[in-house]
Amino acid sequence: QRILVLHGPNLNLLGTREPEVYGTLALADINQRLHDLAAAHDAVLTAYQSNHEGELVDRIQEAGRDGTEYIIINAAAYTHTSVAIRDALAGVDIPFVEVHLSNVYRRESFRHHSYLSDIAQGVIAGLGAFGYEAALQYALAA
Ligand code: DQA
Repeated sequence: QRILVLHGPNLNLLGTREPEVYGTLALADINQRLHDLAAAHDAVLTAYQSNHEGELVDRIQEAGRDGTEYIIINAAAYTHTSVAIRDALAGVDIPFVEVHLSNVYRRESFRHHSYLSDIAQGVIAGLGAFGYEAALQYALAA
């Protein structure tokens, strides 16, 4: 199985960025856990982070060509703004789970709307880094 994990803007700062909101694990630590979990299930996991909307769109389009069967995405702030990322995900027609480290619903109202949720297979918010692992477990069982 081929699984892509996408991380949006500012998630490269995880560990030092508002740790009371996003936790103390670095992105590399989260990715390492996901790699290990995927490998234990003989799945191939690729993780990609970008601060640029178009690069995330490009990577989603590439997933449509490279045999990716599942996407786990934390589009970060682009969740709340990006029609382009939504269109890319709809365009490749690869099932995906939307993940947020924080519980966006107990935060500012501008974080309550997602351009991705209604086309996602599922949404996980507020469980910290565990949310990615839960999404991966689900994908591995799919
Ligand atoms: C986030 C929530 C977003 O509102 C925010 O812009 C982020 C991270 C999360 O993982 O909790 O950058 O997606």
